[in-house]
Amino acid sequence: MSLKLKSGFEFDYGNLYGEGKVTDADLKSYETDLKKAHEAMKVMREKGFIRGHLSKDGEPEKVLFSQTPYVEEGNINSPASLARLKKLQDHVKADVDVVVSLGIGGSYLGNKVLFDVQCGAFWNTLPKEERKGFPRVYFSGNNIDPRATGDLIQHIKALSKISCSHEKKKLRVLLLLISKSGGTLDTMSGFMVIYDALKKFENVEVEVVAVTDPGEEKPTLLKKLAMEKGWEQFAVPDGVGGRFTVFTEVGLTLAACIGFDIQAFLDGAKDMDKACQNDDIWQNPAMLNAALKFAASERHGRDIEVMMPYGDYLKSVSEWYIQLLAESLGKQFNKEGKEVCYGRTPCVAVGTTDMHSQTQAHQQGKLNKVVQFIRIKDWEDDLVIPNAFPEAKKLADIAGVTMSEALEVARQSNADALASNKRYNACFTLPTLNAYHLGELLYMLAMSIAYEGELADVDAFDQPGVESYKRIMGPKLQALKEAKGK
Ligand code: PA5
Repeated sequence: MSLKLKSGFEFDYGNLYGEGKVTDADLKSYETDLKKAHEAMKVMREKGFIRGHLSKDGEPEKVLFSQTPYVEEGNINSPASLARLKKLQDHVKADVDVVVSLGIGGSYLGNKVLFDVQCGAFWNTLPKEERKGFPRVYFSGNNIDPRATGDLIQHIKALSKISCSHEKKKLRVLLLLISKSGGTLDTMSGFMVIYDALKKFENVEVEVVAVTDPGEEKPTLLKKLAMEKGWEQFAVPDGVGGRFTVFTEVGLTLAACIGFDIQAFLDGAKDMDKACQNDDIWQNPAMLNAALKFAASERHGRDIEVMMPYGDYLKSVSEWYIQLLAESLGKQFNKEGKEVCYGRTPCVAVGTTDMHSQTQAHQQGKLNKVVQFIRIKDWEDDLVIPNAFPEAKKLADIAGVTMSEALEVARQSNADALASNKRYNACFTLPTLNAYHLGELLYMLAMSIAYEGELADVDAFDQPGVESYKRIMGPKLQALKEAKGK
C-alpha cells in the first residue's frame, strides 16, 4: 500500500494502515478536521495566515514557509536573491579556503543535512580540485563546548601554517554566522571565541557573513554588528521559523558554499508542494502522513516517532526532523488556550546501526512507537561484497550482493519483523539521493507537521517552551559574572 508520486517519491504506509493498525474508521472520524486542516493550508499558502499563531512578542505573525519553493520577484526566494547566492558561491570558490557555519537549532540542523548529503564525511580531507574549488566546511556555535571549539581553532591554526608554508598565502576563513534573533548565546559565544582567536593568528584572514532577521526598525544585535562592521548580510526572512528555514538563505548560503544544487532543491520542494495541494488524502503525502501519525498517536497510543533513515549520511535528516516535530507539536495549550499537553516524542535512529541497539525496544518494548524509515532506492555509488574468503561459508554466502541491496534487505526484514508483532512502521523512498528528492522529502515533512498542528489544534509555528530555561539562564549567567568580578 503506497502513495507514489510521478517523481518516484513513495510513501509506503502498508504497515501503518489497515486491520490492527490505523483504520479506515479512524480516518473517517477525522474527515471534517482533515478538510479544515486542508483549507487552513490553502489559506496559509495564499495569505500567510495560520489561525491562532502569534509571534514571541504576542503579535500576529505571518507563516510563509510554503512560499519558499517559489522563486518569484517579491518572494522570499527571487531571481535577484538567487543571483546574490551565485555571487556568494563565486566568491567562496575564488577567495575562501575555510567556511565555518555558526548556528544552532533551525540555524544549524538543515545546513548539516545539506552538507552531509552533498559532501559526506571526508570532504575536508579532499584536495581542493576534488572539492571542485569549494572551501573546507566546519560547523560550530551549535553547542557551548569548550573542547570542540578549541579543537576547531587549533585545526584552523594548523591549516593556516600549511597554507603559509606551502602556498605562501594567508588562510582565508569565512565565518557564516546565522542567527534569526541575532543574539543566541550558544552561537554568539562560540562566534566571539573563534573570531577573537582567528583575529590573533597572523596567517589567517577573517571575513564574516551575517544571516539574520533583516528588519531595520528594531535591528537584531547581529544586524547592528553587521552594519557597523560592514559584513555582508543575508536574511532569515520574517514569517519563517528557524526549523522551516532550510529553503531560505539560512540553508541556501551554506548550499552556495558547497556547490549544492539550489534550483533542484527548490524544484523538489515546489513539486512536493503541488502534490500537497491535492484534496484527495490518498494523493497528498503530507496530509496522509499527518493523518496516519496523528491517528496512530491519539487512537492507538503510538506517540513516539522513531525517524530511521538507512544510510549514515542521512542521520542528520533525522536530527533535523526531531527539532521540527518536537518544537512544532510539543505544546501545553491548544489554540483556544486549553491545556492539552500535546506532542509526539521524536527519536533519532539510523539503519542498520540502530538495529543493533534500539530495535530490541522497537520490536518488543512498549507498543508506543511508529518507526518511520527513509530509504534510497538507487545508490549512486555502490559496492559489491566480494568473495574474499571463499572458505568461510557464511561470508561466501553474501558475496556478489551489493551493499545497497544488503542494506535494503536489512531494512525490509526489520519492517517485516516489526509488522509481524503489531509494531507500526512506514517508509519514505527516495528514488536516489540528490538535491531534488531531498527537497521533496524535507518539504513534505514540514508540510505534514503543519497539517498535524491543525489536526491537534496547536500552534505548530511557535515555541514558547524554549523561553522558560532562557529566563532562568540569563540571570544565572549574570550572577556568575558578578560573583567572578568580586
Ligand atoms: O526553530 C527555532 O526557532 C529555534 O530552534 C532556533 O532556530 C534556534 O533557537 C536558533 O535561534 P536563532 O536563529 O535566533 O539563533
